[in-house]
Amino acid sequence: MSSTPQDPSRRAAFAVLGVAGAGLALTLPGCARSQKEPRRVDPPDVSATEDLMREHGVLRRLLVVYRETAGVIRTRPKTLELAVLGQAADLFRTFGEAYHEKSLEEAHVFPMVKKAGGRASSLIDTLIAQHDRGRQINDFLSARAKTGTLGDAEPVAAALESFARMYEIHAALEDTVVFEAWKALLGKKALDEWSARFEDIERATFKGDGFDLALEQVAAIEQSLGLSDLAQFTAPPPPAA
Ligand SMILES: [Fe+2]
Ligand SMILES: [Fe+2]
Repeated sequence: MSSTPQDPSRRAAFAVLGVAGAGLALTLPGCARSQKEPRRVDPPDVSATEDLMREHGVLRRLLVVYRETAGVIRTRPKTLELAVLGQAADLFRTFGEAYHEKSLEEAHVFPMVKKAGGRASSLIDTLIAQHDRGRQINDFLSARAKTGTLGDAEPVAAALESFARMYEIHAALEDTVVFEAWKALLGKKALDEWSARFEDIERATFKGDGFDLALEQVAAIEQSLGLSDLAQFTAPPPPAA
């Protein structure tokens, strides 16, 4: 967590995540240890559940980018920054899909929660189906951006909006039901161990702090699209009674 966001080697590591991410499950340092090598567990700065939730924060910022871009496509398509939309889709694919979904949720969190039964368990199949649908949509967006022309605009706008609608409730239910269930299953000591293991996974994946890298990239995307000023999102006052 101490490396600097400006380090060019970290940028390069992040840029290749799409390739590296495919082999994540094979290279997790925490999973490869034998029982004869007790791992030292330092008190983590960020718990595993907080880690997952702040990753959702980055992904939610990309949902805002998607919704705003859908509005641009429909109302002033000539101002659309298609390449920047492609960057947003690629960030979702690397940080959201390859890392957060595949390497953390699907590899570690979901199997335990599913096995335990109950309300959280009943959500898992749908959450995985939504990961898969999200991959289809982000692949579509990324491919469309790479052509350099928007093409038929309405399907792109509809895909952006439907993705944002799906992922908003998806992340909210993970935050409030699934991660809570996982935390309760683990207890304090095991949660600390998983927090350290998630840190290992993050470092193995990104060769540094993946969260900082993603944060830097989403901020750059917002800047490019004129979405950096929080005040622009303040709702107007309601009509007078
Ligand atoms: Fe998920
Ligand atoms: Fe998630």
